[in-house]
Amino acid sequence: MKPEPVRVRIDLGERSYDIHIGCGLLDSPASYAGLPAGTAAAVVTNRTVAPLLAERLAAVLGAQFKRVQIIELPDGEAYKDWTALNGIFDALLGAACDRKTILFALGGGVIGDMTGFAAACFMRGVPYVQVPTTLLAQVDSSVGGKTAINHPLGKNMIGVFNQPLRVIADLDTLDTLPQRELSAGLAEIIKYGPIADDAFLAWIEMNLDALKRRDKGALAHAVKRSCEIKASVVAQDEREADVRAILNFGHTFGHAIETGLGYGTWLHGEAVGCGMVMAADLSVRLGLIDTTYAMRLRAIIERAGLPVVGPALGVARYLALMRLDKKSEAGETRFVVIQAPGHAVVRVAPDAVVAEVIEAHTR
Ligand code: NAD
Ligand code: GLY
Repeated sequence: MKPEPVRVRIDLGERSYDIHIGCGLLDSPASYAGLPAGTAAAVVTNRTVAPLLAERLAAVLGAQFKRVQIIELPDGEAYKDWTALNGIFDALLGAACDRKTILFALGGGVIGDMTGFAAACFMRGVPYVQVPTTLLAQVDSSVGGKTAINHPLGKNMIGVFNQPLRVIADLDTLDTLPQRELSAGLAEIIKYGPIADDAFLAWIEMNLDALKRRDKGALAHAVKRSCEIKASVVAQDEREADVRAILNFGHTFGHAIETGLGYGTWLHGEAVGCGMVMAADLSVRLGLIDTTYAMRLRAIIERAGLPVVGPALGVARYLALMRLDKKSEAGETRFVVIQAPGHAVVRVAPDAVVAEVIEAHTR
């Protein structure tokens, strides 16, 4: 039986919006009802997703917009850069799109992050809608308005906060997702347990096999609960002045892995999964949680099909890469650590302790 569609509200004053979660949402005109009546819609997608879903989205938007254009970018983290971003502007200007154009980000986090950034810049700002088609994008990247491209020296270093008008997370689009990408999405779902909801971690532990075989009921609950947690954190701290940083659990180590290996070598979710193993161990070494909890988390991450041993980049390289993290202040790297199950905080950690973590978890 298909799960009932649900909506999660993200309260941000005049920038508030709904996250629609359910099956069959992509083709349903109701998903797009109430969006501003723009003259044109531009579907930004990539060469992998386009043949699967773009014509379907264009068809339903065709009933609402005078003109619908599909913009296809190359696929991959390695293309989350200025050149691909500029490709969006080339296509929009080439088609004489005006300021009433609405962009639709159809794809995973790479497309979502770049479309949101392009929407903020095109003609000084046009609206956009997130239509996430990976598990990772449905539970994390499409929500909260962080947009960016990568810089060779660091992940997501160039970008802006720009909230979408709406998020439309159609669980049926996940049917074609490769299993490795599904596991990458599970990493960001698992993340919400240790940082915000210990009961959710227990639920994930119980339902991991159902999630891995894409049981729609299990996916619906996981996407909804993840979005609820993210919406609550973002509503408290939209621009990451403090508490929003907890959403970056595992990301300081993870971003170092992604940048150090070259973008796209490990998937973002894989790097975050392994990064959470390292950040949990750091929490143990700082005396915050016991080893049993860190080992339990490691076992869940491994069961999800994610790597739990990081690449041997060398301690010095890890430390140098992590110093460029956006949470760093005055040259000090700050880490999201678990203070108690379901509660995360941000801490500076001595290099010597971080080095022990790196040595223990890389090969
Ligand atoms: P991705 O966008 O690269 O998508 C993963 C792969 O799946 C791609 O090859 C894509 O073409 C393919 N794909 C997408 N939908 C598909 C479908 N329905 N069927 C088959 N294939 C499909 O990666 P991702 O994991 O979705 O996102 C990772 C990116 O998101 C990273 O760049 C990361 O930095 C960013 N991110 C951003 C935030 C945020 O808050 N903005 C949060 C987390 C991650
Ligand atoms: N994915 C981290 C954040 O949105 O803040």
